[in-house]
Parts: sequence; C-alpha cells; structure tokens
Amino acid sequence: MSKGIQFTRSGRLKHLLTIEGLSKKHLLEILDLAETFFKTDNHKLSQVDTLKNSTVANLFFEPSTRTRSTFELAAKNLSGKVLNLNIQQSATTKGETLRDTVKNIEAMQCDILVIRHSTAGAADFVAKHVAPGVSVINAGDGWHAHPTQALLDMYTIRKHRGDINKLNIAIVGDIKHSRVARSQIHALHLMGAQNIRVIAPKTLLPSHPDALGVSVFHDLKTGLTDVDVIMMLRLQRERMKNGLLPKGNAYYRMYGLTEESLTYAHPNALIVHPGPINRGVEIQSDIADSPRAAILDQVTNGVAIRMAVMTLLKETQSA
Ligand code: CP
Repeated sequence: MSKGIQFTRSGRLKHLLTIEGLSKKHLLEILDLAETFFKTDNHKLSQVDTLKNSTVANLFFEPSTRTRSTFELAAKNLSGKVLNLNIQQSATTKGETLRDTVKNIEAMQCDILVIRHSTAGAADFVAKHVAPGVSVINAGDGWHAHPTQALLDMYTIRKHRGDINKLNIAIVGDIKHSRVARSQIHALHLMGAQNIRVIAPKTLLPSHPDALGVSVFHDLKTGLTDVDVIMMLRLQRERMKNGLLPKGNAYYRMYGLTEESLTYAHPNALIVHPGPINRGVEIQSDIADSPRAAILDQVTNGVAIRMAVMTLLKETQSA
C-alpha cells in the first residue's frame, strides 16, 4: 500500500489511508485537535463551520453502525453536507465499477470521500483516482487498515490511562483477520508503547506475527498478567475459512474476557473493544457493560476524532 500518497509535497495530510507513514506528531495533532472539540461547558461536542461549503460522501460497501454514523455526525458538527450512498440501491448492483462510482460521486462535487470496502487497498485505489482537490478517508479496507478506529482507541486509552508509553497493552482475539488490530499496533508503536502483546490461538494469528513487533501469547493467563489495557477483538467470521475456530464454545472458554480471565490483568485494567461486540463469544456480557469497559466512550470519542481528521484534510484543501 502507498503510504506516500497520504501527504502533499509539503507534508500536509491529504488523505488518511493507513496509520503507517504517519509520524507521532501527526498522530498527536489529531488527538489534541479532537480533544478541543469537547471543550464546552456541558461536554457536548462543538458545532463549528469548518466544512460549511463542503460535502462528505459516505461510501460503505460493507455494513457499519459506528463508523458510518460517526462520520456523518462529525461532518454535520463541522457544518458539512453529507451524502450517504446506499450501496444496495446503487448502480454497483448493475455492474458499475468502483472507479466509475467514485468518479460519479466526485462529479457531484463531493470534497471528502469516506470509503469502507471488503478489498484491502480499495481506499488507496480510490485516492489514486480522485481529482487533486478531493480527499479520501479509509473507513476499513479488508484485512488491511482502519486508521480512524486506531486513532479513537489511542484517544480513549490516553484519556483514561494517560501516557501510552508506560502501559502494558494486550490485543486479544482474531488478529489474523483484523484491520483494527493492524492499525492499533502501528498506532501503539507510534505512541511509544513498550510492551504490546497479542493473545490468540495460532490459527487466528498472521503467518509471521513476530514481524508485528509484539510479544505473542496463546493463553490469557500469561498474556494478561499485569496488563493495563485489554483491547478485545470480534471474531471476523465473514473473513474466515472453515476450521480456524475450536468447536462449540471452546473459543470463549479459552479466549473470552470473563470475570475469571479478567483477574489475571492489573486490577484497574481498562477494557476497550471496537464493536460490534458479540456477548458471550469474546466477552462476558456484564463485563462489557461494567465501568471498566470504555466501549461506548470509544464511540463518542470516534465523533471527535473524525471531526479532527476531516478538519485537517479541509485545511490541506484550503492551503
Ligand atoms: N468499529 C467499527 O468499525 O464498527 P462498525 O463496523 O459498526 O463501523
């Protein structure tokens, strides 16, 4: 994937396609800007005019609740117009190519295209084909990347636990198929995290997990010991071949975050999960609802992070 096309020649963010290629300065700029949107008396997100004459198009070729809706709300908080393309009702079903769909959306004078697609590299492809004044945001492409999810996760961890470089952090579950995990690992490295662990069965790890720069564990008891932040993942069954999961509820027994497995971690360990959560599959229902879980706060923070990203892209367009 091309990290370079994310930036203008002068180093400004033009598209957000992946965390790779971003500097710690870029990442902190996004997190700090997101924080400013909460600086109101009632802690409601601010309403500003940044996208007053701009249109954001949401092109979601895969289902989404959180990402699509928070991009819409973020654009509206920035006073932008929003076009939500209904893919099932679109000419895609008549054989129109991704490139042609995008060129038509661009012709409708959309300024920021937010794309989710099942193919890794789809957002890069779109970024290479849009006009110079149009920005593209990757809202999840296949197994590859989900950069705004990783940014909102960093924001949430920093908010609840402070300096990320001092924390022991474990990512638990289906690492192999997870674009979220890939982006989280890149973001954690950028934030200076010293101890990043992944905990998963061998069948749910990429073929060369050591290349991720993380410690690999196959059981929760050793993997979660002294962990400050537990980042749970959903089983991405839609991307799995048969035979990767143990039969019955063995996965939950071995890798589910339960009352018992939580005792292995630090007593104040923070729990995050990108959603959608599958209760009783990767996480015990009442733990997902407990004060230790920041799952719904992640969603709120996602609006602010997406406001921050679109603000920076708009600044680049206006420069
Ligand atoms: N976390 C996440 O991407 O959720 P959605 O699939 O609902 O957008």
